[in-house]
Amino acid sequence: MNVKLYSSLLVVFMTDAVWTQSITTMEYDDPYDWSYYSFECPQECFCPPSFPNALYCDNKELKAIPIIPARIRYLYLQNNLIDTVTEKSFVNATQLKWINLNKNKITSSGIVKGVFSKLKGLLYLFLEHNELEEVPAPLPTSLEQLRLAGNKITTIPEGAFSNLENLTMLDLHHNKLLDSTLSSTTFQGLKNLMQLNIAQNSLTQMPPILPGNVVQLFLDNNSIEAIPEHYFDTMLKLIFLRLNNNKLTNEGLPNRIFNISSLLDLQLSYNALTRIPAITVHLEHLHLDNNKISSVNGTQVCPIPIPGDYVNERNLPRLRYLRLDGNEIKPPIPFDLMLCFRLLQAVVI
Ligand SMILES: *[C@@H]1O[C@H](CO)[C@@H](O)[C@H](O)[C@H]1NC(C)=O
Ligand SMILES: *[C@@H]1O[C@H](CO)[C@@H](O)[C@H](O)[C@H]1NC(C)=O
Ligand SMILES: *[C@@H]1O[C@H](CO)[C@@H](O)[C@H](O)[C@H]1NC(C)=O
Ligand SMILES: *[C@@H]1O[C@H](CO)[C@@H](O)[C@H](O)[C@H]1NC(C)=O
Ligand SMILES: *[C@@H]1O[C@H](CO)[C@@H](O)[C@H](O)[C@H]1NC(C)=O
Repeated sequence: MNVKLYSSLLVVFMTDAVWTQSITTMEYDDPYDWSYYSFECPQECFCPPSFPNALYCDNKELKAIPIIPARIRYLYLQNNLIDTVTEKSFVNATQLKWINLNKNKITSSGIVKGVFSKLKGLLYLFLEHNELEEVPAPLPTSLEQLRLAGNKITTIPEGAFSNLENLTMLDLHHNKLLDSTLSSTTFQGLKNLMQLNIAQNSLTQMPPILPGNVVQLFLDNNSIEAIPEHYFDTMLKLIFLRLNNNKLTNEGLPNRIFNISSLLDLQLSYNALTRIPAITVHLEHLHLDNNKISSVNGTQVCPIPIPGDYVNERNLPRLRYLRLDGNEIKPPIPFDLMLCFRLLQAVVI
């Protein structure tokens, strides 16, 4: 089976090589002939004949972006030495949906202002692991995913996200965001944002206001000490919340802060908690490893009165996975904890 697969891949590869060679010798007579579009290909890049809307220019040590042919929708430029993004490359590329510029050397001053917002149909823009110091606004309002992880971003221009009503994922992790970078209007307008990753920045506080439709919020590896009262009250769809590797203490957590009925997965590893915070019956995964918890009182932790002999399965707390290792708790697992969380499949202690 393996051998068969390998040989068919080889055939495809060789066919492609032949196509690539014929590209440079092709005569373009009629620009409206379909074959004209299928063969036009920048010399530095690879145009797979079976996927005419894609242009592969990745891993080529390119210093500049080639002129992108009009038919291209998917553009792969990752892993090069590109430091600027100018309008010339994109004048005819009005059909672009996806640009991958990860792992280049692009600086904020190297991006001509407005070059991305002219791409009216752009859905995905990937600029991870570059040298950006600010979010490259203005951006096209069509955008659905914006990945900016692994830059040096300290600045988000006012209104950078305010028209991105279709953005569902924003990844800003591993940058240099400060509390002062984020204002109460920074994320305003992101009506459809579902995934927000601000892990590995320099925040000491929670962002002032987050959009109400966020499902997945990652804030790991900051220096957050506290969460304001009622912080999550407007986030009625939050399912995954990660705050690992911060400086949270029980004093910094209001009593009912994690009373979020949509929440299924809560991660608070590597903080400075001394007690298990109150959770809801809906929560399924709880990570509390590597804190300073020394004892567990099942009666206090249980979100309902500890169920007796007769229990209705449907009302039981849903917790399935609990991590308590790296604390000061000695086995065995307290019996009242097991009486409460009868659906637990794993406890790491
Ligand atoms: C853009 O397309 C027009 C019309 O097909 C053509 O004349 C022009 O040379 C193209 N521009 C670039 C930069 O390729
Ligand atoms: C947002 O997405 C919807 C549905 O796909 C589309 O009709 C609308 O034009 C998009 N908005 C923008 C600003 O592109
Ligand atoms: C947080 O930092 C730790 C240690 O430096 C690293 O192993 C982990 O991948 C980081 N996690 C995130 C989500 O940034
Ligand atoms: C938790 O929040 C719900 C509303 O989502 C509310 O009805 C309930 O009283 C709260 N529970 C506690 C213990 O605050
Ligand atoms: C656990 O908490 C309950 C209610 O707060 C209390 O009555 C009980 O004595 C505690 N158990 C232990 C072992 O401390």
